[in-house]
Amino acid sequence: MKVARIYLLLHVILTASVLVNTFDPITTTVVVGIGATLGRTIYKYFKESCNPQWIAFNATGLQKDLDSKLFGQHIASRIVLKAVNGFMNNDNPKKPLVLSLHGWTGTGKNFVSKLIAENIYKEGMDSSFVHVFTSELHFPHASEIETYKSQLQQWIKGNVTNCAHSMFIFDEMDKMHPGLIDSIKPYLDYYDKLDGVSYRKAMFIFLSNAGGESIIQTALDFWRDGRDRNEIELHDLETALSLSVFNNKKSGLWHTSLIDKNLVDFFVPFLPLEYKHVVQCAMAEMEARGFDPDKDVADQVAKDVIYFPKTERVFSVKGCKTIESKLDYYI
Ligand SMILES: Nc1ncnc2c1ncn2[C@@H]1O[C@H](COP(=O)(O)OP(=O)(O)OP(=O)(O)O)[C@@H](O)[C@H]1O
Ligand SMILES: [Mg+2]
Repeated sequence: MKVARIYLLLHVILTASVLVNTFDPITTTVVVGIGATLGRTIYKYFKESCNPQWIAFNATGLQKDLDSKLFGQHIASRIVLKAVNGFMNNDNPKKPLVLSLHGWTGTGKNFVSKLIAENIYKEGMDSSFVHVFTSELHFPHASEIETYKSQLQQWIKGNVTNCAHSMFIFDEMDKMHPGLIDSIKPYLDYYDKLDGVSYRKAMFIFLSNAGGESIIQTALDFWRDGRDRNEIELHDLETALSLSVFNNKKSGLWHTSLIDKNLVDFFVPFLPLEYKHVVQCAMAEMEARGFDPDKDVADQVAKDVIYFPKTERVFSVKGCKTIESKLDYYI
């Protein structure tokens, strides 16, 4: 797409210069003037801006993506769709949308954030209105916390001032310093405006492994009872999740009053993935690479993955995380 744009631009410039060479000075000035205006228009047309040409929610697209690309996450899928639909279809939200995604490694938390971004921003995760922070990468030193706080606040303010429909993804939220979480709290709240800026159309997505083990325990209980995984409902996870997450003294997220103040709108649990989901991930990856998905190859990949608990081997230790690189050995 980008290459096509560059070709088009080059073509316009070359055509303009050929024209310029064939005319007298006055015509040349006019042609150059038109060329410059045209150039600016083209530039503006192709440069991502904060308007419906670049930011438009595609509800059916999100539903389709969640149904066909996300495996084994019936609860997360339902909550995300409901939450994002409700928020994006509301012209006057009372607060920004705050989602907190929880679960074991490799179960699709970053993947879902990407699907949401792709169905709102034309440029998806490459959009200049989507911002990703990773605790250990962006805020590595506890001693720098005061600097990080003011930088983060300025960053959020600057970006929301520039575009109300900004999206902020905080990865490894459970490793984030409590003070830093406290510093973003005002932006998540029900304020009409803060310093003249309204944050109510922004979206915040927190990703963490917090609560992952309690989600696994529930999934395992269902499996041991011979019950279908799809029967697991949000309320089956809520109690365990709240006990393990909200009372976990080690977790930065829960030292703050983010939860007491109801600033998180939706807690989204991600279930651990089973053998059949790993097969699905391998099939999807083959398709993404332009191969005909081969079930035998996918089975091979899934057989070489490690599962837990040791005795029953039900859930993939790394979810679908290493499938992409593993596939290189098989095709
Ligand atoms: N439920 C799923 N459905 C389809 N693909 C998945 C799923 N979970 C993971 N994947 C695949 O595995 C890759 C890694 O998953 P992702 O980065 O979303 O995991 P995560 O939940 O963020 O893990 P971590 O907690 O380790 O950060 C994704 O890019 C996607 O290709
Ligand atoms: Mg992740």
